[in-house]
Amino acid sequence: MQQTRSEAREVVLSVKDLTVGFGEKIVLDKLNLDIYRGEILGFVGASGAGKSVLMRTVLRLLPRRSGSIEILGADYDAVDEVQRIALDTRLGVLFQHGALFSALTVKENIQLPMREYLDLPQWLMDELAYLKIELVGLKPDAADKYPSELSGGMIKRAALARALALDPDLVFLDEPTSGLDPIGAAEFDELIAQLRDTLGLTVYMVTHDLDSLFSVCDRIAVLGQKRVLVEGTLDDMLAFDDPWVQSYFRGKRARSIPRPEPSGGHPVK
Ligand SMILES: Nc1ncnc2c1ncn2[C@@H]1O[C@H](COP(=O)(O)OP(=O)(O)O)[C@@H](O)[C@H]1O
Ligand SMILES: [Mg+2]
Repeated sequence: MQQTRSEAREVVLSVKDLTVGFGEKIVLDKLNLDIYRGEILGFVGASGAGKSVLMRTVLRLLPRRSGSIEILGADYDAVDEVQRIALDTRLGVLFQHGALFSALTVKENIQLPMREYLDLPQWLMDELAYLKIELVGLKPDAADKYPSELSGGMIKRAALARALALDPDLVFLDEPTSGLDPIGAAEFDELIAQLRDTLGLTVYMVTHDLDSLFSVCDRIAVLGQKRVLVEGTLDDMLAFDDPWVQSYFRGKRARSIPRPEPSGGHPVK
């Protein structure tokens, strides 16, 4: 029997029965989610649904009430501090707010994770920073600029360069194209797809951007009712009987976007 795609692929992040809350308020309730190596997972949900909370919990920046999180084959609860630090170096993050430190140049921003986790001479960190700057499509002269001297699109690229500073396996991007014009957003999406293809990067992308979901995401997961309501291809979303999912994927904003014919549906790619 032929193996399906998901059976053949390595799970790099596995969240099981995750519950997170603040005081009386439960934000995530027994949530389950798997991410496979080499895919771009688009993560959507209403504003305030808990998308950023999930990301921050997976990164151990927020406590959880219960549930387990396995990253790159290791259970965070079962590893010692040294192993935990080693795991952290394999994750890259682009946060929703405050993408870069304004008092530092682009180069210094990119070198922050290197300073935190590695012990490298300055000349080598400079070489590495220039490599990352090139990788994200910025010109070398961006290295010595401050964030205030950059356009929105350049700031996102520089923040991505910082997320890639330690050559991570898995990167978390929280609404990376918000605030960009459609062309800038499309270019950023293209870059992400390119990095998936060339570096074999796995990408967890929280996004409000339907264009991103349609054009670069291999799989989509929807957060609703405190858990992952539905996950799969765009066709799976369109076929899912839930008012929020239907209005999101078929609503006014979605109408202008080309999508597969109902009869000849194919996976999002
Ligand atoms: N540190 C915190 N303390 C208390 N409540 C929080 C905290 N962080 C997030 N929340 C609440 O959790 C819910 C989900 O937030 P968030 O994950 O930021 O939503 P989004 O899906 O828009 O990213 C919101 O109601 C928010 O107010
Ligand atoms: Mg958010």
